[in-house]
Amino acid sequence: MTTEQTTHSQAQGAAPQHVAIIMDGNGRWARQRMQVRSEGHAEGVNSVHNITKVASDCGVKYLTLYAFSTENWNRPTEEVDTLMRLIGTAIRNETPELKANNVHINLIGDIARLPEDVQADLEAGRKATENCTGLNLNLCLSYSARWELIRAVKELARRAANGELDPAAIDEATIDSVLATAGMPDPDLLIRTGGEQRISNFLLWQIAYSELYFTPTLWPDFGKEEFLDILDNFRGRERRFGKTSDQVKSEQS
Ligand code: IPE
Ligand code: IPE
Ligand code: MG
Repeated sequence: MTTEQTTHSQAQGAAPQHVAIIMDGNGRWARQRMQVRSEGHAEGVNSVHNITKVASDCGVKYLTLYAFSTENWNRPTEEVDTLMRLIGTAIRNETPELKANNVHINLIGDIARLPEDVQADLEAGRKATENCTGLNLNLCLSYSARWELIRAVKELARRAANGELDPAAIDEATIDSVLATAGMPDPDLLIRTGGEQRISNFLLWQIAYSELYFTPTLWPDFGKEEFLDILDNFRGRERRFGKTSDQVKSEQS
């Protein structure tokens, strides 16, 4: 048994099927080094590469990465432009290896708001991996949960107005089916790097019962070891979903 297996073999519970990450702290990482913020974003791409690989290798089925929020459009134009360039370049560079690793790219968010050439790069990446059956990599770009919920409500209202949907029949499954994550399990685990303890408009519906993990590590410094430690921490938690601990234990045995 390798050291790594020893370190990460303590866990009792099930591994998370779906991990969502708020990748925060790139700007502070750069500032600590007297560099411009975009250097932090560029370094953050390496963390995306490494974490996608480890998630894929350890059997996570869905990895949902918050890369650019609706609110991030309000940043200085220069930073937004650099981020857009970086997203286009990263997807072009990463697609061959993602495909080789059987990773399926899915785009979540108001993608039409991105520059057209970046949209084309993203679409090429999505298309190249559409038959891949391994890790589902959800890239959230120009995404916010309230954007997604407004879109979902409009869609349900449209169906109700057309007589396709009985409003009285709306249930959780109906709402799930009109979200960008339709057909996917909810995140079991939500990680936020960078030390802030907030959700910043990410997956508000889907994280209703997710386990939360906040780490002070800045995203460019976030690596495989810490990710695996967090998965171990997750496995040690008891998810009760409103029931008592005794009920949960008797259901497991
Ligand atoms: C996260 O890092 C990346 C994006 C939000 C695009 P930040 O750029 O928010 O970094 P900090 O929070 O300023 O350190
Ligand atoms: C959240 O980070 C969005 C992404 C990681 C893409 P922010 O840095 O934008 O969050 P706030 O504004 O500090 O909450
Ligand atoms: Mg931030």
